[in-house]
Amino acid sequence: MKRGFKQRLVHWISDRFGWAPFKDNVLDRRVAKSPWYFGDGATMMMLLGVLVVTGIGMMFTYTPHPDAAYLSVRHLTERQTLGWFVRGLHYWSAGLLMVMTLWHVLRHILIAGYKFPREGTWLVGVVLFAAIVVMGFTGYVLRWDERSIYAVRVALNIFERVPLIGEHLVVFVLGDSQPGARLLTRMYALHVVALPLVIAFFTVWHLYLVILHGITSHRERRELTHTAEQQKRRYKEDARDDDTGEPFYPDTMVQSGLMAAIVLGLAFILVLTVGPASLMPEANLTERAFPAEEWWWWWFSALIALLPANVVPAFVVLFPLVVLLGMTLLPLVDRGPERGYSKRPLALGFVVFTVVILVGLSGLRLRSAWTGWPDGEPPAVPAGITLSPDVDEGRRLFAHYGCTSCHSVAGKGGRNVAVDLAAMEAPRSRAYLDDYIRRPPAGVAMPAYEGWAREDDIARLVDYVLAAQTFQSAR
Ligand code: HEC
Repeated sequence: MKRGFKQRLVHWISDRFGWAPFKDNVLDRRVAKSPWYFGDGATMMMLLGVLVVTGIGMMFTYTPHPDAAYLSVRHLTERQTLGWFVRGLHYWSAGLLMVMTLWHVLRHILIAGYKFPREGTWLVGVVLFAAIVVMGFTGYVLRWDERSIYAVRVALNIFERVPLIGEHLVVFVLGDSQPGARLLTRMYALHVVALPLVIAFFTVWHLYLVILHGITSHRERRELTHTAEQQKRRYKEDARDDDTGEPFYPDTMVQSGLMAAIVLGLAFILVLTVGPASLMPEANLTERAFPAEEWWWWWFSALIALLPANVVPAFVVLFPLVVLLGMTLLPLVDRGPERGYSKRPLALGFVVFTVVILVGLSGLRLRSAWTGWPDGEPPAVPAGITLSPDVDEGRRLFAHYGCTSCHSVAGKGGRNVAVDLAAMEAPRSRAYLDDYIRRPPAGVAMPAYEGWAREDDIARLVDYVLAAQTFQSAR
């Protein structure tokens, strides 16, 4: 029997472009049912897609050179049609990707998604996790504003502390003795070529394994699973059964698409209400930058500020290693038959603990200007002294703006990294203090508060420091 032209054309396309096997093995394959909020993987794919598109869009304008980078970002944001929107969407997709990555990892710890036969899926995921974190970091260095340079300094500080190879590592990253053109080029190459390729490759691999081994089914989470073979048999049964399984297309796709759509909607709302990340002043390579980091690092800053100063150098090197090593070893060590969280209190405890700590620390950082000592105790008023309301307000702001993380006043309430403000070398005038707090001299490791603290607040801070000079004699 001779087939019609249309039929032959469809057959030709399907055969030559490999549509039929794709349809059979991917779209029409049956998978275990899962709730809609398990759509985080699909959501991450969607976010990656948005990042690629908006990222390429920005590459048409961005100039990876220290003299031009900052201005090109400004130009993109302020002058180009919809530039703010493209950059905003890139920024918020990246931020939401950080959140979804955490969600994805914690969810799989919770349900033991890393257990046999999915160890490989998880380990490939660990590479993706690391790549995404570095991606989020290199991205905001490209902005080349003060936040970028602060991030670079924090990272270099960590590298420098790596035993034996620390210094070489710093030179390797910098390509120079100072952060400059070479560093920016390197960050650029990493961010737009090297890491995207790594992420693309491992994402495809990850997805392939997800298709091969399926997702952790409802029954897996309820019943004990002893071997990979047993799991595979069960998974097939679950997927085939109409109560526990469904075809990937359209059921699963629509469902996980729902979560992706919600998150994309959220990204749009954030772009329209908050907009792209505000640009801080351009990076200044000679003065110390004001500490600032992207919000997905807030918890880390707070943690560093809370740790005893002598622990921090070792901590910053060991912490990332411990996290990566822990993630790598997890599927190789935890091989028990239980899945799901009801029978694994340790996993449940760990996930709850992690979320509480991350949110709690971020909250601390959010309320603090400088460290994790937000609105901490202002320095006590020495006995026998009464402060005017303005001076007392200044005392409160002194803690609010984190001055206490470096200065104490008459021996009270500070970390004492810098001079005690009740014991300055010479009496300082109002004009001097005002100027100093706004723009500390180059080379002084104190952030400039101009443009950052409110004008009124600077005046109150000056009131307080002026008054503090008299505390010494009263002590
Ligand atoms: C990161 C640490 C740090 C922070 C935070 C900080 N300072 Fe400083 N500050 C310094 C350093 C370092 C000096 C230089 C003097 C020294 O080396 O001890 C200094 C100097 C000063 C001086 C001049 C002292 C003199 O002898 O002339 C004043 C005034 C001052 N700081 C006020 C403030 C106020 C007010 C705040 C908060 C709004 C603040 N500082 C926050 C580190 C800091």
